[in-house]
Amino acid sequence: MAKFNATSTTAEVLQGKNLKGQTVVVTGATSGIGFEAARSLAAAGADVIITGRSKAKYTTALEALQTAVPGARFDAVELELSDLAQVRTAAAHLQTKAPRIDRLINNAGIMACPLSRTAEGCELQFGTNHIGHFLWTCLLVPALRQSTAPRVVNLSSAGHKYAPVNFDDPHFEAHAYDKWQAYGQAKTANMLFSVGLTARGILANAVHPGAIMTNLGRHMTQEDMAQFGSQAHESGFEFKTVEQGAATSVWAATAPELEGRGGLYLEDCGIGEPASEASPTTGYFSYGLDGDAAERLWALSEEIVGEQFTLA
Ligand SMILES: NC(=O)c1ccc[n+]([C@@H]2O[C@H](COP(=O)([O-])OP(=O)(O)OC[C@H]3O[C@@H](n4cnc5c(N)ncnc54)[C@H](OP(=O)(O)O)[C@@H]3O)[C@@H](O)[C@H]2O)c1
Repeated sequence: MAKFNATSTTAEVLQGKNLKGQTVVVTGATSGIGFEAARSLAAAGADVIITGRSKAKYTTALEALQTAVPGARFDAVELELSDLAQVRTAAAHLQTKAPRIDRLINNAGIMACPLSRTAEGCELQFGTNHIGHFLWTCLLVPALRQSTAPRVVNLSSAGHKYAPVNFDDPHFEAHAYDKWQAYGQAKTANMLFSVGLTARGILANAVHPGAIMTNLGRHMTQEDMAQFGSQAHESGFEFKTVEQGAATSVWAATAPELEGRGGLYLEDCGIGEPASEASPTTGYFSYGLDGDAAERLWALSEEIVGEQFTLA
């Protein structure tokens, strides 16, 4: 029987674990499940570096984390994922603080925002959730390689089922914008990036955390909320607490059974299965873990960031 499940919490997953001496980086840890991942990993002994979009935001989060875990070592860097020049500055700054990174949790994300584009012309959800993290992670590979067994955790979502990556028109230039398709495409990209990184020797897994009430829903309309509520009612899925929601991220970062394993879709503190009619609320669509699509996405991402990363 699996050790943990959908209701397991960060405290349960980390019980008895001593992460002293490990450096963990969590993006977008100023709220939601990123904050809880940072808090719980520090409570288990890790040195934790968070990112926030401004000094004011990360300072407030750092104070709250320090109050929650007195004596833990926290630090922060400013990171704005939609601005690739700033991502480069942030990655360089981070490596002055952490020449070795043991765990990188790429957690920051946005969902279902109105159409907007980054300076490079990327649709904002693709640009922020995937392209920003792509550049950030590739630039951090030298620090990850200083660790004996580094792991990358990419926050994806069951929302990947809304859409595969549309390689013909990823930025909605030739077809009408749909905020949920855009979220789905970005979250599929988070899965494919895990496959691409693993193929290059950096073990990475994708995580669906569950459905948790956080600031992620800031762009949802009343209509979206009602639809989501009725879907929840029909399929019988339960919302998770923040402690349950962050549990799969910290499981991905620490589970001994994941040693040497990457390119997986994780959910409910376990390894996800392909989606099936028997279990409509869980599982993944195979296009999210497809090796050819992962390579295509890697090439597209390199083109967008203007740099090649063979990671050899
Ligand atoms: N909550 C859920 O039900 C759910 C379900 C499936 C997947 N997820 C995934 O879980 C992750 C965390 O979500 P959450 O629910 O904890 O949401 P959240 O509370 O909104 O946290 C998201 C974090 O990302 C940061 N962020 C947003 N845009 C950014 C940017 N351009 N550059 C850098 N950081 C940025 C936010 O900073 P600001 O506060 O400054 O905007 C915040 O710290 C996301 O990747 C999301 O897709 C969540």
